[in-house]
Amino acid sequence: MASYLPVKIAVIGGSGLYNLEGIEFVAEVNPDTPWGKPSDAITIARTADGTHVAFLARHGRGHYLTPTEVPSRANMAALKSLGVEAILAFSAVGSLREELAPRDFILPSQIIDRTKGIRPSTFFEDGIVAHAMFADPFSKVLEQVIWDQRDVLEGGKFHKDKTLICMEGPQFSTRAESNMYRSFGADVINMSALPEAKLAREAEMAYQMICMSTDYDCWKEHEVAVTVEAVVANLNANSANAQRVLKAILPGVRKVVEDGSVLEGLKGSMRFACMTAPA
Ligand code: ADE
Repeated sequence: MASYLPVKIAVIGGSGLYNLEGIEFVAEVNPDTPWGKPSDAITIARTADGTHVAFLARHGRGHYLTPTEVPSRANMAALKSLGVEAILAFSAVGSLREELAPRDFILPSQIIDRTKGIRPSTFFEDGIVAHAMFADPFSKVLEQVIWDQRDVLEGGKFHKDKTLICMEGPQFSTRAESNMYRSFGADVINMSALPEAKLAREAEMAYQMICMSTDYDCWKEHEVAVTVEAVVANLNANSANAQRVLKAILPGVRKVVEDGSVLEGLKGSMRFACMTAPA
């Protein structure tokens, strides 16, 4: 077994975040899983205090996978095979609320699924049935570690306890859809939280998404509708902040992994979720 294993912390980079900065390269791995290869090779890196972190670019490092094409089952299985227990998943989002400005960061506590039935979203099928608890889709422990470091953000505000709606894409929403999502109670919108968060839960890995706002979607009167150019400019600003946030939170994430609290309520949970009788 490689000397750096297990790697218990993983970072998933979304649009605009394709690598980890200022952290020592250790290895690159590209595990084959029963669900195929992950989005790209996974980089293993080591922080100055010796914490190993696995980094995976969700859309590939050259951004060649649409949200629909991301091989989420392979990604989650590959991270699990490295020993990952805690996932920090970054994602660009559109804001559905005035007070969540572009370049703000948002920790969602709930998700509304608009990808259901389109993307393969479970490891359990073909004769094995399991129903994972998903009432609270994100890790409260990781949320707290991140929230404690909210002041490191430059030029934007941190928010928490928001509702994320995950749409299929790749086109952005119509104005009617954007207003409908607001009426649902959604605060931010992306195309990437699912099925990733569901699969992390099935694999008993703690998961928190860190949303980085790039635009106001298209609901806002008198505001130009979302364009790729505007999204990319804000993406670049957000990725500098993401590196700052990561540097600040990794020691705290390491602590909750080492003391076991990050897996409280998760470890062993799928044993009670499986309906299928043992063979
Ligand atoms: N990702 C970034 N901005 C978005 C938007 N407005 N809708 C869906 N996904 C997004």
